[in-house]
Order: sequence, then structure tokens, then C-alpha cells
Amino acid sequence: MQHPTPKVKSESDFVAQLEASNLHPLWDRFRTLTPVKPQAKDPPLLWRWKDIERFTERAVREAAIDDVERRALILVNPAFGGETVTTSNLIAAFTVLDPGDRARPHRHTFAAIRFATHAEGAATIVNGRRCEMHEGDLILTPPMCWHGHINESDHRIVWFDAANIPLIRGLDANFFEPGDPKANQFWQVDEGDEKLWTEPGIVGADIQHAPVHSPKYRYAGDATRRLLAALPSGPDGARTVRYTNPTTGEAVMPALDLYMSRLPKAQATRPKRTTCNMICLVVSGEGSSTVGEHTFEWSQHDVFSIPHWTWASHKAIGSNADLFIVTDKSAFERLDLLREELQ
Ligand SMILES: [Fe+2]
Repeated sequence: MQHPTPKVKSESDFVAQLEASNLHPLWDRFRTLTPVKPQAKDPPLLWRWKDIERFTERAVREAAIDDVERRALILVNPAFGGETVTTSNLIAAFTVLDPGDRARPHRHTFAAIRFATHAEGAATIVNGRRCEMHEGDLILTPPMCWHGHINESDHRIVWFDAANIPLIRGLDANFFEPGDPKANQFWQVDEGDEKLWTEPGIVGADIQHAPVHSPKYRYAGDATRRLLAALPSGPDGARTVRYTNPTTGEAVMPALDLYMSRLPKAQATRPKRTTCNMICLVVSGEGSSTVGEHTFEWSQHDVFSIPHWTWASHKAIGSNADLFIVTDKSAFERLDLLREELQ
């Protein structure tokens, strides 16, 4: 579907005079201003873990943790013209910490998460709570929550990060506050109030919490895997869990919304498209995805993007495969802009 061709043609000197007066004629740029459907700037893209991994060693050598805010390698789609963007509204990255490294405390308005891929022995401190990072654990660092990271193991640690920095930059709504890198009390904490939110289905009746974002910061990988194993398939053929705020049952954060899908082997999911954006981390297994006109074959810890309003279908090969999926869906829900279609 296209806009009809405009019947009115303005004299170019009239348009020039309008422009010189800081005015634009709507009639000659109506099509640009009101596209008939969303048009993602970016084609889908796959980043292979083996290509990223070879840079982790050099990142450790060249960027001392005390000299940098974070030692993260951000996945970038060149379709954004050099901007640090993975797909619209979202970035994904891998962070590298050597034994003893501490990524200093800070807080900011954008929302971020970590997903533990090779992170056994690491911990993230969020608002005075120590969150361990075992295989498949998800750690939230919601807007304006203080957070820092530490590697207390004897081996190098790498985890997957995602954040809605491009969205918040587009709105020019980011605030950033550095913490004190020498403040030992920041690191000397235990699980703290995180234990108020670890029991599914029950919450403290007198615990006050304003539900802007989830009060629970750590989502254990083994709990996610247990639920995935018990779930029936959804309409697209995959079993999918949504990480939720236990006080509302809704997304964990207003503008960052997280899922895990278990794909059945050898059977492609029904193609789906949505107005929101997605980044998929392959947590386990092998398979392929057709996103728009591109087909990718992927294996563990590869990452690929599904730009908005692009048909996507996935298939596991050999055995089941799990995809951790970062989206901006909750932001679209809040703006009443979410539209989804299934073939
Ligand atoms: Fe941060």
C-alpha cells in the first residue's frame, strides 16, 4: 500500500521561501512524514561468538579496567551509519573481566541487563544486593539503580549485556552518575533484600514497592530452564517464558522486556513480525533463523537481530535450542504501538 500521488505541485521558489522562513509545506513531504508502515533502517545481522571471542584477549590487554567505565565489546550494525546501535532502540555487547577486576559503581537512566554466558564466579552488586552470576542467570540493572561488577574467580569471565541506550539517547533523557570506585562498602554486601523476591508466587504482604520496575534483580537460570521444560508450546510453536515483575506480572522494566524461547528440533516456528525490536542470544543448541530475506545458521553464544516489522522464523537442528530475547516491547505497549502478526 502506498500513499496516492499528490495532485498539488508547489512552485519551487515558494517552497524555498517557506524554508527560508522556517516553514515546510506538509503537502510535498507528507509521504516522508507519515510512512504507511514501519521501515527498519537495518537489515538483520548475525554476530558469531567465535569472531567476538578472538577480540576478548586483546580487549583485556589494551583496556585496563581501572581506566575504563566498562570493558564491553558492543555489537554494531553498519546500517546505522557509525552510530553505536545493534538494532533500533537497543544495544547488545559482551563484557570481559579478568580475575580481580572490578567494574566500578555507577547508575544511569537507561535500562540494562546481564545474561551469564561464561560468568561463573562473577557477581553484580545492584542497589546494595549481591547477585551471583551462574550459567543462564539474568541480572537486571534497572534505571537509576547503582551497580558494579566483580570477578572473584581465578578465570576470565565474559557475559552478554543489553541496554536500551539508543532509545534513551533518541529521547535525550539519559542521566549518568559515577560512584566512588574506592568505596569498599559498595562491594561488601550480601544478597540483602533480593531474598524477599526469590520465592515464586508469594510476596511479603507488608513490603512496599512502587512497581516502576521489578523489585527482583536476579532471575536464576535453573528456574527458567525448569519452567521451559514444563511449558506447552505457544501459537508460534516455541515454548516461551517472559521474565516478569513479581508485583505486577508485567515486563521487568518499562522500556526493556525479556524472554527466553525453547525451539523444538527440526520444526520451524511460524513466521511472526512485530513493531518492536529484538536481539537474540543463542543460549544453547544450534539452528537457523530466517529474518526478512536473510537466513542465518547459528550456534551457542551467537547473537542476531530481528529489526522491527520484519518476518522471523526459527528452527533448531539436532536437539532443542534456547534463545534469550531482548526487546523494547514493553515500551511499545506503554505507547499503545504494539502490533504483532503470525503467519
Ligand atoms: Fe551501567
